[in-house]
Amino acid sequence: MRPQLLSSLVFAFGISSILADSHPKDVAARLSKELIPQLSKGASISSEGPPRWSTFKAPKPAVVVNVACENDVSITVKYLGFADIPFLAQNGGNGWATTFDLGKNGVLINLAQLNKFVVSADKKQATIGGGIHINDTIAAADAAGVIVQTGNCNCLGTLGAYLGGGYGNTLGFLSFGIDNIVSLKVVLASGKMVTASASSNPDLFWAMKGAGPNFGIVTSAVIKAFPTTPAERSAWAGALIYSADKLERVVQAVEELVLKPHMVIYIYFVSQGPPTNAPMLMVTPFLYKGNAEAGKAAFASLYQIGPDVDTTTIVPYTSWNTGGDGFCTRGGRKPSYSVGMMKLVPSTWRKVWNLYTEFQKKPGAENSAILMESYSLGTAKSIPGSSASFPNRAVNYNSIVIAWYNDSALDKAAQAFGIAVRNAWRADDGLSKNNTYINFAHGDEPIEDVYGDSLQRLKKVKRRYDPDGKFDQWFDLS
Ligand SMILES: Cc1cc2nc3c(=O)[nH]c(=O)nc-3n(C[C@H](O)[C@H](O)[C@H](O)COP(=O)(O)OP(=O)(O)OC[C@H]3O[C@@H](n4cnc5c(N)ncnc54)[C@H](O)[C@@H]3O)c2cc1C
Ligand SMILES: *[C@@H]1O[C@H](CO)[C@@H](O)[C@H](O)[C@H]1NC(C)=O
Ligand SMILES: *[C@@H]1O[C@H](CO)[C@@H](O)[C@H](O)[C@H]1NC(C)=O
Ligand SMILES: *[C@@H]1O[C@H](CO)[C@@H](O)[C@H](O)[C@H]1NC(C)=O
Repeated sequence: MRPQLLSSLVFAFGISSILADSHPKDVAARLSKELIPQLSKGASISSEGPPRWSTFKAPKPAVVVNVACENDVSITVKYLGFADIPFLAQNGGNGWATTFDLGKNGVLINLAQLNKFVVSADKKQATIGGGIHINDTIAAADAAGVIVQTGNCNCLGTLGAYLGGGYGNTLGFLSFGIDNIVSLKVVLASGKMVTASASSNPDLFWAMKGAGPNFGIVTSAVIKAFPTTPAERSAWAGALIYSADKLERVVQAVEELVLKPHMVIYIYFVSQGPPTNAPMLMVTPFLYKGNAEAGKAAFASLYQIGPDVDTTTIVPYTSWNTGGDGFCTRGGRKPSYSVGMMKLVPSTWRKVWNLYTEFQKKPGAENSAILMESYSLGTAKSIPGSSASFPNRAVNYNSIVIAWYNDSALDKAAQAFGIAVRNAWRADDGLSKNNTYINFAHGDEPIEDVYGDSLQRLKKVKRRYDPDGKFDQWFDLS
């Protein structure tokens, strides 16, 4: 940094010394005195942020800065960078990676107030805030008469999911979240706010679409919107529950199912709930604009196996994610592991079922779950892979294991369970290299697994936009 600029920053912020050895309380006091007066009226500091999805190895900030406008992010990042205080942006708070480490004086930048959703006059674009959650995104989109691509759980940050890739129910026809981004307003490590788009900072734009949290904080984004009639904002969806002896047939049927663009399918191992908490095999089909007749035809092979329970029905857009609300429950320890795969092998899934039922019967671990997601990828594969750093466009399936409990005494058994399941899946994933979707990764993987062939170029772009590695919390590229 040039001396002149340095002294002007000292003047602007009144920072008299570096805070690295301070007590957390001192950090809070100094931020109140030096930073908050620079921010807009609605900004504040607090000692805790909104609760996170998992407390397992969760980041523990000394202070939370609740920003109230986009420019607050710029001023905050500039201040923290100059004071050499580690920081992390929080949006939905679902990121479960164990890579977060804020040290003892780190700051969480809470984006929750950046939650606007504004549709353009032609309804073909929406400008969304960097901190908007999926439930609010869908509610606003529905009210405006459009659909937008989002993830399938209400509690996620819309951009938190997008910046890693962004899977969701409309993927088959709208492609990934990243493919729906028109432009991003990004606060860089220097605090400078820039636009990233195909024509402005194209390298940064490419990098943000798959590895976003490593390059800056998105304060707002212009995304694609699709004008629809109310009838076009509905789907046929629900749960099919099978007895466990049908597992191999279910897995084989899902493997053989050819998904058309309006179709999605998930397999779950979950608890039936109290009082028995017995493990249960569940499949959730989804058919955009579907009804019972079309749904039963599209998923005929799953119906032929004979589910014991069928809760499928027509579901309006605003309720598509309701089934996932239980999964959104805040708190509890939830170490999670995931594997990308090209094929599903029934005998492997039997092994995973056995590992699951063994762990899930432990007192306190009943809510643990396994899930597998499969989307129609034709539309996504028609978009050039070189348009984004996201490396998983052609990966057929993503499977996740979530150990879920409260008592840290279960940590060791939970990690052993997660790793055993991951190893079983990887043993016949049908890929030449291990692959994990960055937003589902545990945090212990070599970074090649999450960045794939984009790794070298990402490192190059990183050196240009974040040379001091200020954004080092999310599968660090420095
Ligand atoms: C219950 C549940 C359901 C899920 N469902 C899906 C799904 O349907 N599809 C899917 O693709 N993924 C899904 N995921 C994974 C999800 O995409 C990741 O957990 C994602 O990181 C969550 O983002 P967040 O904003 O909620 O979390 P956070 O922990 O707040 O953010 C995660 C990371 O992204 C960064 N970040 C967030 N917002 C911004 C921003 N505006 N600018 C820069 N960096 C930012 C954060 O700093 C952090 O590093 C799910 C996860 C959970 C727990
Ligand atoms: C979205 O969820 C949050 C809590 O997570 C809640 O405060 C908010 O009201 C919800 N929005 C809608 C539209 O339901
Ligand atoms: C874990 O703790 C939460 C919050 O205290 C509580 O609601 C939940 O029932 C607990 N779960 C188990 C399995 O003990
Ligand atoms: C891939 O994953 C498996 C199982 O987790 C592991 O044993 C193997 O060493 C990994 N391979 C590479 C190249 O990292």
